[in-house]
Amino acid sequence: MLITNIKALIGLHLKDTLVLRGNNLDHLPILENAWLLIEDGLIKDFGKMDSIPSHISNLSSHISAEGRYIFPSWCDSHTHIVFAASREEEFAMKIQGKSYEEIAAAGGGILNSANKLQKASEDELFESASLRLKQMILQGTGAVEIKSGYGLTTQSEIKMLRVIRRLKDQFPIPIKATFLAAHAYPAEFKNNHQGYIDLIINEMLPQIAEEKLADYIDVFCEKGFFSVEETDQVLKAGAKYGLKPKVHANQLSVSGAVEVSVQNSAISVDHLEESNEETIRTLRNADTIVTLLPSCSFYLGIPFADAKNFIKANLPVALATDYNPGSTPSGNMNFVVSLACIKMKMFPEQAINAATLNGAAAMEMSEDYGSIAVGKKANLFITKPMPSIAYLPYSFGEMQIETVILNGEIYNG
Ligand code: NIG
Ligand code: FE
Repeated sequence: MLITNIKALIGLHLKDTLVLRGNNLDHLPILENAWLLIEDGLIKDFGKMDSIPSHISNLSSHISAEGRYIFPSWCDSHTHIVFAASREEEFAMKIQGKSYEEIAAAGGGILNSANKLQKASEDELFESASLRLKQMILQGTGAVEIKSGYGLTTQSEIKMLRVIRRLKDQFPIPIKATFLAAHAYPAEFKNNHQGYIDLIINEMLPQIAEEKLADYIDVFCEKGFFSVEETDQVLKAGAKYGLKPKVHANQLSVSGAVEVSVQNSAISVDHLEESNEETIRTLRNADTIVTLLPSCSFYLGIPFADAKNFIKANLPVALATDYNPGSTPSGNMNFVVSLACIKMKMFPEQAINAATLNGAAAMEMSEDYGSIAVGKKANLFITKPMPSIAYLPYSFGEMQIETVILNGEIYNG
């Protein structure tokens, strides 16, 4: 496939640039008035229109992208898209002023989702997650991480992870699976935390490892959920099976979650709506990626993470949706990028880098995804005609994507 007359190719980081820290996020390399050649699902070559080689310009499979930009697909490194039912009854409670913690304590929240998921069949879960994923792809997402964590029993956690494996097999995008049984304590373990942790460690993890159902391990480390010590136990048990941590950290309070994650060599710490100087000091000396989820802040009405300060501290910031039925019922990365600019004061270039290359890095796939470089996978989107790159986050809530290309082929859903 040859694409010509492209207004600009976006995100041309060198293939060996695997993550962008601090000020490096400011720079979004582009090439104006360009052509792009795709072969065998990979980016084969690109250049300026005024120097297009004649053997290439004569190719027959040819799209003209006049006035349009080509971006690397969004890389959404934090989602919970396998769930049985929406939770808009909590939406009304939120509007009345109830907090996330109050709703959870009243039997809503994660336990509500777990109840419903336990009753759903694997096929039903696969069907509904497929619809969500299709929609996300049409909104420009070309790589995704998906968590378990609404099962909370051995059988249901495995059911969720099997659904994720079916999604991996059937969708044309790369998917990473994260085991998140440590998402909330089931009611029967309310006063027996160690009992549930033992179940995770002695029963769930061995089976999941045996079936190779997970790539990563996650814990909701938070007051009222999993303590720092409990998180440490679960992460260390996961490490025995080669599962690296990606941790829900500092969503509602500064809890020591970042410290315990870094001590356990986490790939990423996610959320960080709450942070302090100690958080930043810990992260400065680590490779751990800081994944921010602004549509969660938007929906819950909690503070937005201090992205500017993290960038100033030379940290690698990524952006993801957190798509889930409770705190973020949206998988739209375009909106995430808009919110990052509008609410966290990231520049469009920073937000786009954070939602592409650094998102890929937070799933350990930035060698193949997240930028436009020769030899990388051709997962891209072509915009509608736009006046500038900044127009994409500026025109929030408007769909600027016209064509999605996955593995070098047009995706129609
Ligand atoms: O990332 N915080 C923990 N997990 C999800 C919300 C889960 C839920 O409310 O169902 C989150 O926000
Ligand atoms: Fe989450």
